[in-house]
Amino acid sequence: MARVVKLMLWLALAANLWAAPALAETTQEVVNKAPNGLAPTPPMGWNSWNKFACDNNEQTVRATADAMVASGMRDAGYQYVVIDDCWQTARDAEGVIVADAQKFPSGIKALADYVHSRGLKFGIYSDAGRLTCGGRPASEGHEYQDAITYARWGVDYLKYDWCNTGDRNAQEAYAVMADALRSSGRDIVLSMCEWGTAKPWLWAKNTGNLWRTTGDIFDSFSVKDPKRNWAHTVVEIVDLNEPLWPFAGPGHWNDADMLEVGNGGMSPAEYRSHFSLWAIMASPLMAGNDIAHMDDATRSILLNTDVIAVDQDPLGVQGRRVWKDGDREVWVKPLADGGRALLLFNRGDAAAAIRATADQLGWPAAVAGNVRDLWTHRQLARWSGSIEATVEPHGVAMFRIEPDPPRR
Ligand code: GLA
Repeated sequence: MARVVKLMLWLALAANLWAAPALAETTQEVVNKAPNGLAPTPPMGWNSWNKFACDNNEQTVRATADAMVASGMRDAGYQYVVIDDCWQTARDAEGVIVADAQKFPSGIKALADYVHSRGLKFGIYSDAGRLTCGGRPASEGHEYQDAITYARWGVDYLKYDWCNTGDRNAQEAYAVMADALRSSGRDIVLSMCEWGTAKPWLWAKNTGNLWRTTGDIFDSFSVKDPKRNWAHTVVEIVDLNEPLWPFAGPGHWNDADMLEVGNGGMSPAEYRSHFSLWAIMASPLMAGNDIAHMDDATRSILLNTDVIAVDQDPLGVQGRRVWKDGDREVWVKPLADGGRALLLFNRGDAAAAIRATADQLGWPAAVAGNVRDLWTHRQLARWSGSIEATVEPHGVAMFRIEPDPPRR
């Protein structure tokens, strides 16, 4: 009998020994064992690309940092000032990355210091291939060297792109940079820009803090640019990003791409929809406009602190679509205080009445509570099981519903 037990134990042990490496090979836990502890809520800030593309320079970045403070954006939570592609020109004899001296004559360290002096954080861009999307030197083969350089400069955030990567494996390539950043000795948020090609939501939870889920955003609500297939409208991105809600959470976010609010291609109603949808999807909120010269309409959208609070809610659940009928949709995001953010979205070209009900919120019909309109900033009539609003074309109505505390 004892012999049988011993044999069974041995067999169990052998099975475990065999199973462990196989399991390890199929998960990225081997490379990055634990989250890096950054981005407990979706990162907020500004990125140069959507407005300035390769025309970025140190004056623009400084003016943007100043305007983020003066406009109140910093105090509303916009933290990271990120220079996107085309800041780099070459590598020196030791392989150290060199900034474009025409555009950044004071150097990147001085720029990072300036951004820090304004109470903001500083971000930079590279790519996992040989060249960036804009054809500048990228980080393949230089990951640790670049991470050390970034740490020396005071970089707090790296957007890491995926052009010119040949047959590199995305999981491996991003893990190398993640490890390099971790060993640099500085806290650096890793923003993965791989466009969702290798489904990073399935494996990047402990690699990066955010990952793009689609190709590039384009400043249009729903009209495609026939010449640019990779450029996605707001509604296209919404439909690609929404089903990924189970994969988002504190420290790891689905990135629906940088905002176009204020860049001129959409109506105020469409920009309000864009901003509200990004917030209910707990997407990073990286403004992509010219902050130093924005108009009041743009400012009032980017500085809607009620909507920002939905995005930044510490529970960190990505909201989702709970009802759809043609162009009319109801979206819900559970909040840390037990309340719900509720979005009524009208994709259509005519105004439409949209109604949301208690079961869509996941509540019994008897629950009562307060309702705040997040665009008019007014308390509305009390919640008693449903709400209906007439929503403008391409527009939204957005509410926060706080249930009454349970009666004892
Ligand atoms: C890719 C990214 C964009 C931007 C450009 C820069 O297209 O998806 O967000 O960073 O590269 O070249």
